[in-house]
Amino acid sequence: MKRKGRLLLVFSVIAVLVVLFSQCMDTSKSAKATETTIAGAKTCVQCHKDISNAYLKNVHYAASAPIESNNQINLGADYVYEYDENLKVAIEKRDSGTFQVVYFKGKEELAKRFDIAIGAGKNAYTYASWRGDILSQLPLSFFKQINGWANSPGFRTSAPDFGRIIESRCLECHSSFIESKNKNTNSLVVSREMLKSSLVYGIDCERCHGPAGKHVEFHLKNPDEKEAKFMVLYKTLTRKQRVDACGVCHSGNDAELLKSTFSFKPGDDLKQYYAHLSPSSEESQLDVHGQQNLMLEGSKCFTKSNSLECSTCHSPHDQIKGSLTLYSKKCISCHSSIKHTEKTLANAMVKTNCIDCHMPLKPSKVISFQQAGQSEVSPYMLRSHRIAVY
Ligand code: HEC
Ligand code: HEC
Ligand code: HEC
Ligand code: HEC
Ligand code: HEC
Ligand code: HEC
Ligand code: HEC
Repeated sequence: MKRKGRLLLVFSVIAVLVVLFSQCMDTSKSAKATETTIAGAKTCVQCHKDISNAYLKNVHYAASAPIESNNQINLGADYVYEYDENLKVAIEKRDSGTFQVVYFKGKEELAKRFDIAIGAGKNAYTYASWRGDILSQLPLSFFKQINGWANSPGFRTSAPDFGRIIESRCLECHSSFIESKNKNTNSLVVSREMLKSSLVYGIDCERCHGPAGKHVEFHLKNPDEKEAKFMVLYKTLTRKQRVDACGVCHSGNDAELLKSTFSFKPGDDLKQYYAHLSPSSEESQLDVHGQQNLMLEGSKCFTKSNSLECSTCHSPHDQIKGSLTLYSKKCISCHSSIKHTEKTLANAMVKTNCIDCHMPLKPSKVISFQQAGQSEVSPYMLRSHRIAVY
């Protein structure tokens, strides 16, 4: 009896090992998707056709793009920006692309190719050029407000600057992914370099929804399953989590960063990524550029209601631009009776356009631009998300 029992044990151990071993072989044959496996935006189309098509017109989709794929610089005649009578930067189309070319006393000094457009061009495009794996910003940008070229924001106006490195931080908000690595330039200095070939342009589906490898794998195998599996459901998140999922890129770029936001997934807390983020109801504390999240969170509409969030007013996939009348309907859905004074009521906008009075366009404190030959800087106007009486 004893011996039989031992034999049985030995057999069952072998059986378990065989099963385990064959499973190991299996997984090594077809790599199984994990929580962090990215499927890629192309794979979503087959099952989410309408959303994927609508999304092609969304600004997030075009938040960065390679130059060859669209016409961001197809802007008519060549242009020359004069720093002074000797020093100029010209925009020139050549066989190998379009360049920003520096001329000193009529002689070409340097030419840098437009490789990437950053921004969807709603208000502006700024451009970047690769040298090896180093990306630098070009000194001239295009501004819709003047429908023309001007000095890139923050660049000096005495001479063109081609040495402004674009780090992965820009791309954390304007692209879906780029890999960075440390590079020892000498024994003391360590610099971060980006791997050019790893750049995924634009903000794609999984940047907002999180890695979907397992979701895709499951639904391909189970075509009859109608409930989403292995996918964070926005409707199950708290309001704070939903607003954070937008705020990861809409809280501004001056907060101290604790780790790369490329790893952010819906449901995560922004505090894991930023050291200090403080919503404020004071206009002086925040800037209309990039800080929509903090401005909204400081507004009474947000603090005194439980439901106001970004998606109350913005649809995440469609072309976001709505008319101000449509946005105003959202205001009226909460404010059916308003105590306006006679003076305010006399204004013709009062029934149909709440936005221009309560979310006015304001000049950014951090971004402005300068046109050639003008001493005045031009303001960069954006919509304030501090909903209030101005
Ligand atoms: C093989 C089919 C299939 C593919 C491919 C697929 N999905 Fe899905 N997905 C589904 C099904 C089925 C559902 C559940 C029904 C629905 O909501 O449409 C779903 C639901 C979702 C939801 C909604 C969750 C909710 O809030 O209810 C999201 C978000 C989503 N998918 C994202 C993606 C992304 C991103 C990709 C591409 C990386 C993708 N899916 C690729 C089948 C697929
Ligand atoms: C990965 C970063 C990122 C995330 C996440 C993100 N955004 Fe954005 N968003 C951007 C960038 C960058 C722009 C500017 C795009 C441009 O014009 O180049 C932008 C632009 C916008 C605009 C302006 C659209 C227009 O037509 O002018 C709206 C509205 C907006 N985002 C809402 C949202 C909402 C709502 C969410 C959450 C559901 C969200 N964003 C999540 C980065 C992000
Ligand atoms: C924290 C996220 C974040 C970072 C980092 C960031 N941006 Fe943006 N950027 C935005 C958002 C959000 C908008 C759109 C609304 C706004 O201006 O507030 C925007 C708008 C722009 C626009 C105008 C786009 C348009 O359609 O009009 C340009 C150009 C731009 N950014 C370039 C850059 C460059 C270059 C860098 C790096 C030096 C950078 N951004 C870093 C979030 C970011
Ligand atoms: C800017 C962030 C953002 C991007 C980019 C984005 N989504 Fe969404 N998506 C959301 C949010 C937020 C919701 C929840 C909307 C709500 O509950 O009001 C959502 C909801 C969904 C849903 C379920 C609800 C519905 O409308 O059917 C699906 C499916 C989905 N997204 C698929 C996609 C696919 C596919 C892509 C890429 C083509 C994509 N999303 C890109 C933010 C985004
Ligand atoms: C989800 C509901 C909701 C939406 C949508 C909403 N609000 Fe409010 N709003 C509120 C609440 C709640 C308060 C606080 C009222 C109070 O203090 O009694 C408020 C307060 C205000 C105030 C007074 C602010 C102050 O500082 O005293 C103004 C002005 C206002 N809202 C305008 C708007 C406008 C304009 C819109 C559309 C752009 C809007 N609201 C959208 C809920 C909302
Ligand atoms: C009460 C409505 C409302 C809410 C809530 C709201 N927005 Fe907006 N947002 C607007 C309006 C109105 C505009 C201006 C649209 C226009 O001019 O066409 C706008 C414009 C924007 C722009 C473009 C800025 C510009 O001036 O070009 C961005 C980016 C943006 N919203 C992001 C967000 C984010 C992120 C959230 C959540 C933190 C949010 N919004 C919440 C109403 C809202
Ligand atoms: C011409 C500018 C203007 C327009 C347009 C306007 N408001 Fe006002 N709103 C004001 C001013 C100014 C106040 C402060 C009270 C006053 O002087 O009338 C105010 C006060 C408010 C308040 C706080 C008073 C209260 O009832 O609690 C709310 C809420 C509000 N407005 C919502 C709206 C909504 C919603 C719309 C669009 C349907 C709108 N406003 C359109 C200028 C405007």
